[in-house]
Amino acid sequence: MIRPEDIRFCVAPMMDWTDRHCRYFHRLLARKARLYTEMLTTGAVKHGDRARLMGFNDFEQPVAFQLGGSDPKELALATKIVESQGYIEVNLNVGCPSDRVQNGAFGACLMMRPKLVADCVKAMKDATFLPITVKCRIGVDDQDPEIALFELAENCIAAGVDALFIHARKAWLKGLSPKENRDIPPLDYRIVHKLKKTFPNTPIAINGGLETIQQFKEQLQHVDGVMVGRAAYHNPSLLMEIDAELFNAPRSISDDFEAIDALSPYIKQELLKGERLSNITRHLLGLFAGQAGARLYRQRLTLDATKPNANIDTLFAAVHEVREATQRLQLAHAHKLAETKS
Ligand SMILES: Cc1cc2nc3c(=O)[nH]c(=O)nc-3n(C[C@H](O)[C@H](O)[C@H](O)COP(=O)(O)O)c2cc1C
Repeated sequence: MIRPEDIRFCVAPMMDWTDRHCRYFHRLLARKARLYTEMLTTGAVKHGDRARLMGFNDFEQPVAFQLGGSDPKELALATKIVESQGYIEVNLNVGCPSDRVQNGAFGACLMMRPKLVADCVKAMKDATFLPITVKCRIGVDDQDPEIALFELAENCIAAGVDALFIHARKAWLKGLSPKENRDIPPLDYRIVHKLKKTFPNTPIAINGGLETIQQFKEQLQHVDGVMVGRAAYHNPSLLMEIDAELFNAPRSISDDFEAIDALSPYIKQELLKGERLSNITRHLLGLFAGQAGARLYRQRLTLDATKPNANIDTLFAAVHEVREATQRLQLAHAHKLAETKS
């Protein structure tokens, strides 16, 4: 079972972004958030290197695993494997529009096959005690969302789905890249609010284009949760506010410098295991945004962290650029103030 409050704030699944290092970092910033893995296909779960593809640190919990697939039997098997790895929810991807996914006949094109999605959900439910959830669009191509979204939801609910995550825009299966499909089809939050009114007993979270605490709070008047992707990734300071602003809980990290300090023991540990610094620091490029020295910080981290001898001091040196620039700025202000006074 998922309680509505479990999905109050979620960081969206993002391929190549929400890997285990990213999630560890996000967990440090937002203790109450629910985190999602990148999507993995049933085939990769079954045949792939599980330690590499599915391993995670317990500190990341609660973490939900996103599966891509459309064969109920394969999904049931993959669900069992996901459960055995210790994840706390299995989410089925009914929203990804990439060609690769369309060729495998899953992702967003499943919006056109609500009965099959229901069969998938049922098979997954029968395979586990974990909650099974679905992340979908409001429709694809020329579908009418008033029909497509409600039909999909109705079928999923009848099959026992535990929660729905709705990316509040259509996917256009032909002619748009996955990136364009995250921006060009217009957002329609209203229809997601209507869905929640129609199915009040099903936990529903809204996704797409949400960037500020104010927007999250507005959405939470209508739905149980918000799922945030790009804004959470690019703007880590947003995540630092979530516990206090949405959960009335203490803030764990007060600023970007503290975030680096808190993460550095983990980085050292991972480096000792042979991980490359850049595989972790690539998720930290959004820190210090807008602050003096931020550009140099990003430059140093992008260039130096990929060098063979990169270590934790490489990160500290990049952060030092921000400290120095901030000090220079403070000094310049102090001089100016002294000048205007004299
Ligand atoms: C780099 C990237 C990778 C993504 N990969 C996935 C994925 O694996 N599964 C999925 O359901 N959605 C994926 N998405 C879509 C996001 O989960 C989310 O629905 C979308 O970005 C809209 O939310 P946002 O406006 O808050 O970013 C991805 C988005 C981005 C930017």
